[in-house]
Amino acid sequence: MYKILTIVGARPQFIKAAAISHTIKEKYADAISEDILHTGQHYDDAMSAQFFRELDIPQPRYNLGVGSGRHGAQTALMLKGIEETLLNNQYDGVLVYGDTNSTLAGALAAVKLHIPVFHVEAGLRSFNREMPEEVNRVLTDHMSALLFAPTETAVHNLSKEGFDEKQIVFSGDVMFDNVLHYSKLTTYNLQLSSFILATIHRDFNTDHPERLKNIITALNEVAEQYDTDILFPIHPRTKKIIDSMSGISFSPRINLCNPLSYLETLAALQKSRLVLTDSGGLQKEANFCDKCSVVLRPETEWVELVNDGSTILADADRNRILTAVQKLIDHTPIRTHHFGDGNAAGKIIRNILSL
Ligand code: UD1
Repeated sequence: MYKILTIVGARPQFIKAAAISHTIKEKYADAISEDILHTGQHYDDAMSAQFFRELDIPQPRYNLGVGSGRHGAQTALMLKGIEETLLNNQYDGVLVYGDTNSTLAGALAAVKLHIPVFHVEAGLRSFNREMPEEVNRVLTDHMSALLFAPTETAVHNLSKEGFDEKQIVFSGDVMFDNVLHYSKLTTYNLQLSSFILATIHRDFNTDHPERLKNIITALNEVAEQYDTDILFPIHPRTKKIIDSMSGISFSPRINLCNPLSYLETLAALQKSRLVLTDSGGLQKEANFCDKCSVVLRPETEWVELVNDGSTILADADRNRILTAVQKLIDHTPIRTHHFGDGNAAGKIIRNILSL
């Protein structure tokens, strides 16, 4: 029996891990056993526990409870706790997801103990080293034994960086697996019937008051100009910062709410007219649900969506946001075929078992 430790800590990782955990349980339970370690990076019920309940993810065997903090201190606490867990137990491999501080800490603790690291969502690049996520993903790739690339662009990025071709696996995207699996189960408890979905959480938007103000001004104008509601589930980071700022006001058409669950998010995507976001995951999920997205960043890792015309990069620029909304609102994008066949999780597990 192959024993794997899955390391998660932040909201998008719970969602990605759900795809693998289900597939292990349903198809590979006699070959591989999985324990989950939660670093505690995200800890509010709406950011963490509700995903475990709703997506039926096995309860974490270990929870480090590190909480929030500066990057160095947060990552250091994770590193210490993960190393102790790995030393006190016997794992054949460690599975990490994406690009958060939990990903970096998991990979670094394991590689120093000579335990193979498997990176799901490898090879993504924004080529912007000021993003903490970019640093995390580049370093994690370089510590990994197998690199599971969600797109051909990611495969290409890794080849250019000189990785051994045998390490790179084009797996497709587990988030596409999830949309296919869960979209039939969506639950929608919101009153709105027609709306734009908006989210903001990246530090380069939240931690720069001018950028945040520009985005909120643009949201207010979009709501008025298109006589539309905007559903704005607000990340705790963004909420704290907006609450502390003066001179911010929202149009009554902007409906602020707590972070949605995964199934609520899918339902909201299906009903939305357009998505405005700085999230990488939501850009893709919008496309998987046949919606376009205006991305509140200067660049994206998901260049396929830009090339296909389903995403426009508008940064935090009021004029660019308004122009992009005009172009994409109520527009149905072409369904992309860049993210695999919906069986990424199975491919990942088979490759780990055959290493
Ligand atoms: C992290 C990831 C990012 C991912 C995002 C998804 C890093 C560097 N960033 O960003 O890649 O897209 O998660 O959400 O790992 N907070 C709470 N309650 C919570 C969680 C966070 O109040 O449950 C607040 C805290 O004030 C904290 C802030 O949000 O300081 C930011 O949390 P942090 O862990 O730094 O990451 P995210 O911004 O969520």
